[in-house]
Amino acid sequence: MIKPMIRSNLCLNAHPAGCAAMVDAWAARARSSSAAIQTAALHAGKPLPRTTLVIGCSTGYGLATRISAAFACGAGTMGVSLEREPGDTKSGTPGWYNNRAFDDAAKAAGLYSHTINADAFADATRAEVIERARAEGLRFDQVVYSLASPVRVDPATGVMYRSALKPIGEPFTGRTFDVVTGAMSEVSIQPATDDEVAATVKVMGGEDWEMWIHALAEAGVLAPGCQSFAYSYIGPENTSRIYRGGAIGKAKEHLEKTAVALDSYLSTSGGHAWVAVNKAVVTRASAVIPVVALYVAALFRTMKDLDLHEDCLDQMLRLYEERLFASGGVPVDEAGRIRMDDREMRTDVQESTSRHFMAATEENLAQEVDLAGFRHDFLEAHGFDIDGVDYEADVTYR
Ligand SMILES: NC(=O)c1ccc[n+]([C@@H]2O[C@H](COP(=O)([O-])OP(=O)(O)OC[C@H]3O[C@@H](n4cnc5c(N)ncnc54)[C@H](O)[C@@H]3O)[C@@H](O)[C@H]2O)c1
Repeated sequence: MIKPMIRSNLCLNAHPAGCAAMVDAWAARARSSSAAIQTAALHAGKPLPRTTLVIGCSTGYGLATRISAAFACGAGTMGVSLEREPGDTKSGTPGWYNNRAFDDAAKAAGLYSHTINADAFADATRAEVIERARAEGLRFDQVVYSLASPVRVDPATGVMYRSALKPIGEPFTGRTFDVVTGAMSEVSIQPATDDEVAATVKVMGGEDWEMWIHALAEAGVLAPGCQSFAYSYIGPENTSRIYRGGAIGKAKEHLEKTAVALDSYLSTSGGHAWVAVNKAVVTRASAVIPVVALYVAALFRTMKDLDLHEDCLDQMLRLYEERLFASGGVPVDEAGRIRMDDREMRTDVQESTSRHFMAATEENLAQEVDLAGFRHDFLEAHGFDIDGVDYEADVTYR
């Protein structure tokens, strides 16, 4: 039997059967959206993706995109992610089980699927993808970049850079809560140094995305008209000191500038690149960011009350149906970004979320914010708390 082992909003294990059940449930949801998405593509006169490469494919937004491409659009997919394999006595990371379940589901549906477990920042991984694509005669018409990583080794120099979730300028104090106990605490974070900001841009900015697109194009494995997108976040005032105005925000600005450069690069063969600004959701990456967790739980309360709630998969299915396959061109904001955070950033949503966020105390947390929903999504991301899974049954890690 495997029970969740959670420390400081980090879950240290995963449930193999639960991860598989979650991937199957997401695949079923994507299938049930396929008619609407394919009709949108037809009306817009746009082709469905045939071969999608997802870099960061195993969890969160990357997994949701891969599932949407495969089961809603019928695309063959290649995925790259870095996940820990299970041992006999130690669980693998959720993404390892998700990838296995994805490959099984795709093959059962007759869709091409190949997953590479390797460091996406390494040139050797790019070479492996290119070699595989050539061997299979594949050309990617869609490349999705969805990495969230704390470290990156620059392949040119071998130097390791570490990203920092820190404010810029002044120290910052904000509130967070423990996902298991609901206990609230204050966290103070010293500002990032200039070197830490630069390192965060190195890890989470657009440099690696650009290296991927150039390498794939130069190797001739991008189809004409190839579209590429990466994911960003903006968020409200309440989280801006730690997120958009912090070191990670500088990285996201860099990613967004890279999209403009890549758009022009890909346009020579009829392609495009965009950043999609997604809404805040609970993923392995977002649950550990102080203040963001409380904000997300307050946002969930509001968006569920207003019947506007979306998870990763809802967001990605809507990205295809209403943005990529919009009639008359992909709608973008003044900076050329696709806005999937339109509902999150609505004035009424932000006003209500801010009220819940400010009013939350340890005593009223479960009422004031969506603690139960946050907890469920957090557990689900590790294969726990999923309907239909027998958590009392014996399972093996492998
Ligand atoms: N979670 C949110 O609320 C949110 C909101 C908007 C945008 N985003 C953005 O979406 C993107 C994905 O974030 P997520 O929240 O889905 O994260 P996640 O942690 O669920 O997924 C990260 C993925 O990156 C892969 N990865 C990490 N390091 C790697 C490496 N060295 N080599 C290969 N693969 C590696 C992981 O295996 C995993 O597949 C990020 O750019 C993030 O900023 C997230």
